[in-house]
Amino acid sequence: MKKMLKNVLVGLMVLSLSSLAMAKEKIYVGTNAEFPPFEYLEKGEIVGFDIEMMNEIGKVLDADIKIQDMAFDGLLPALQMKKVDVVIAGMTATEERQKMVSFTQPYYTASQVIIVKEGNNSIKSFDDLKGKRVGVMLGFTGDVIVSDMEGVKIERYNAAYAGIMALKADKIDAVVLDSEPAENYVKQNSGLQIAEAESAQEKYAIAVRKNDKELLEKLENGLNEIKANGTYDKLLKKYFN
Ligand code: ARG
Repeated sequence: MKKMLKNVLVGLMVLSLSSLAMAKEKIYVGTNAEFPPFEYLEKGEIVGFDIEMMNEIGKVLDADIKIQDMAFDGLLPALQMKKVDVVIAGMTATEERQKMVSFTQPYYTASQVIIVKEGNNSIKSFDDLKGKRVGVMLGFTGDVIVSDMEGVKIERYNAAYAGIMALKADKIDAVVLDSEPAENYVKQNSGLQIAEAESAQEKYAIAVRKNDKELLEKLENGLNEIKANGTYDKLLKKYFN
């Protein structure tokens, strides 16, 4: 009887140990799925370049990627409060943000562009936004850039789509947004065009908490690996042709 009990106990221990060894590490990732083609909702599912890239990095690290959708301006607070451990959201690695969080190497170069109604050729530079009603998205780099300008009537929206709708309805004269999502919205909505205006480049990177060196290193390794093995290029082709 005693021996049987012992066998059962040993068996249980072996079982729980092996399930421990098999349990994959989970990485909690925050995003804002209103930024096509980087992250957006398709039939209620969060998809896009960033999401696929993150899952590929997860494969390299043998980790389970758990994506959480939230407001863009809530992403870095959620990171600080440990609701998530990683943020990927087409997020520009600005100097300001680098004071609060650590970024990986950049994975995409973008810029800010100006979207106007088709046929509106009165805006040819960011300076031309002066005196105009300009839509930006709360907390985006476009918001920061336009907020720094004098004499612009800023309208802030929670999501890019809301800004696009306001532009179509002539509630505003222009929308300042990242280049790729802007092209996406212009393609999908008739009557819009991207103004020919120069803007500074920005680099997107993945964010972690400042002291989370271990996770940062893992993500860097994952990024290096998918850049080396062709996965990253495949994703670029799929989303940006
Ligand atoms: N690149 C801009 C920024 O970092 C906009 C990013 C918006 N991303 C999003 N998933 N909504 O501020």
